[in-house]
Amino acid sequence: MSVTFDFKGKNFVVVGASSGIGRQVALELSRSGANVLAVGRNLERLAELRESSPVSLIKHPPRIFTEQLDVMTATAEDWSLALENFTSAVGRINGGVYTAGIWGLTPLNSFDESLARNIFETSFWGAVKFLQTTTRKKFSDGGAAFVLMSSIAGEFSGKSLFAYSAAKAAVQAAVKSFAAEIIRNKHRINSVAPALVKTEMMQNEMYAATASEEIISRHLLGLGTARDVAGVILFLLSDRASWITGQNFFVDGGYIVGSYT
Ligand SMILES: NC(=O)c1ccc[n+]([C@@H]2O[C@H](COP(=O)([O-])OP(=O)(O)OC[C@H]3O[C@@H](n4cnc5c(N)ncnc54)[C@H](OP(=O)(O)O)[C@@H]3O)[C@@H](O)[C@H]2O)c1
Repeated sequence: MSVTFDFKGKNFVVVGASSGIGRQVALELSRSGANVLAVGRNLERLAELRESSPVSLIKHPPRIFTEQLDVMTATAEDWSLALENFTSAVGRINGGVYTAGIWGLTPLNSFDESLARNIFETSFWGAVKFLQTTTRKKFSDGGAAFVLMSSIAGEFSGKSLFAYSAAKAAVQAAVKSFAAEIIRNKHRINSVAPALVKTEMMQNEMYAATASEEIISRHLLGLGTARDVAGVILFLLSDRASWITGQNFFVDGGYIVGSYT
């Protein structure tokens, strides 16, 4: 049984679209008929994504637009310009997904403040700036839907994970506040918190080192794929989730249950 979504004529921004979960979300939105603004730093990967816009005989096929932006340094003006370029081409957005994030271990004793701050900037402050711009009336239609990326680490932390865990917990907490604020424009927002997902992030040496056999075996359904997470994100962006806001969704392959059995 397969579930499909119809996002024909809709416009979405996906940040962190050059790789992993964000890339999968951008592709699936596009294949479901939406125009997508794909944001990231890696120009080559963004270009490759843009080329994969579906080919179609219909008059206005959905398009993937790309914008190179470093979320750690992007100013409010940079975000506005990116949104202006996109919305002047396709119209106001119907939502957005923020998946940009970096991984790193920051033990308290050999504390790497720069790495810890970069982790927070990318997962948390970047998401705040993204939301400040995208929820402006100028850029989004009333009733837009947003999804931010948390992690199971936001709830179940571990040694040397304080920066990553705190950033992901901050996302979950902030979503509750954002939900109460942006409802004035009938917007919704939720977060998604995956356990281990096989993406580029897992190729990070430190990440791979923490993914021990024991940790992997706690995933009752095995490790996740970008597609497993993208499905939940597309649902949250869709009208079928129109009564859901301010929530966090664990997409964990049974990790939480597996940790207690
Ligand atoms: N994979 C997992 O096991 C897992 C589990 C739980 C949560 N998550 C979270 O899910 C999200 C996506 O992770 P993923 O697994 O898909 O990782 P990924 O394949 O490494 O993708 C990360 C994305 O973030 C973008 N990014 C990183 N720093 C950026 C910056 N300064 N400016 C702009 N873009 C930036 C990257 O773009 P460029 O390469 O173009 O810079 C890339 O598109 C992250 O927030 C991660 O923390 C992942």
